[in-house]
Amino acid sequence: MTARLVVLLSGRGTNFTALQQAIHEGWLKAEICAAISDRDAAGLELAAGWGIDAVRIDRRRHPDRASFESSLAAAVTGYAPDWIVLAGFMRVLSTDFVTQFLGRMINIHPSLLPKYRGLDTHARALAAGDRDHGASVHFVTPELDGGPVLSQARLAILPDDDPERLAERLLPLEHQLLPATMALLTSKPVELRHEQILLDNQPLAGPLLLGHDLDDRRDFRPRGSVSEHG
Ligand code: GAR
Repeated sequence: MTARLVVLLSGRGTNFTALQQAIHEGWLKAEICAAISDRDAAGLELAAGWGIDAVRIDRRRHPDRASFESSLAAAVTGYAPDWIVLAGFMRVLSTDFVTQFLGRMINIHPSLLPKYRGLDTHARALAAGDRDHGASVHFVTPELDGGPVLSQARLAILPDDDPERLAERLLPLEHQLLPATMALLTSKPVELRHEQILLDNQPLAGPLLLGHDLDDRRDFRPRGSVSEHG
């Protein structure tokens, strides 16, 4: 069955593009029903160009967060999505909103969570003298960037990295991580139960690692077993 996705974004939409490309290439069995943004965003232009519904729900045109979120929830619900994917959506969502979509909403975040929730993740990793950096895909729960982590991509920090260069080097990994994770979510039973991720009805011990549990061809390969295509 083709999974229905709604993507929420606030900016340029390169992760959204990576999802659309994976669908086009046929290894992500999904359909993006809509891209929804809280502001003018280049990602919306891309969506419109591909014939995907592009919806702007401008936060500034709503008197408060509650009315903005009620418009957002109505728009999302109208598409009856199986999954809601936050791909560079930069607005903090209330507990009420998150609870409505709990277990069906995921986010990509540019750090190795639980490190560096919130903003300026690349600069913070550098300032801390970390050897590694990365990105995480996690279930969205009321705690900001605090939900259970499904998958991660890692990269080594280099001596000449600055925040911009590190972000630039991480982005291509995000573009593999997000579609690979969505391919998993749309092909295996994955459930969020009491802050625990169940994959194939088994508790997930830790994040799936890109290049190890999720491979470069974007197939899901459980840790320790032989790849179906290997
Ligand atoms: C990505 O790096 C994503 O991880 C980050 O915003 C960027 C969006 O880029 N998300 C967050 O910081 C969420 N807290 P994109 O618009 O090109 O996909």
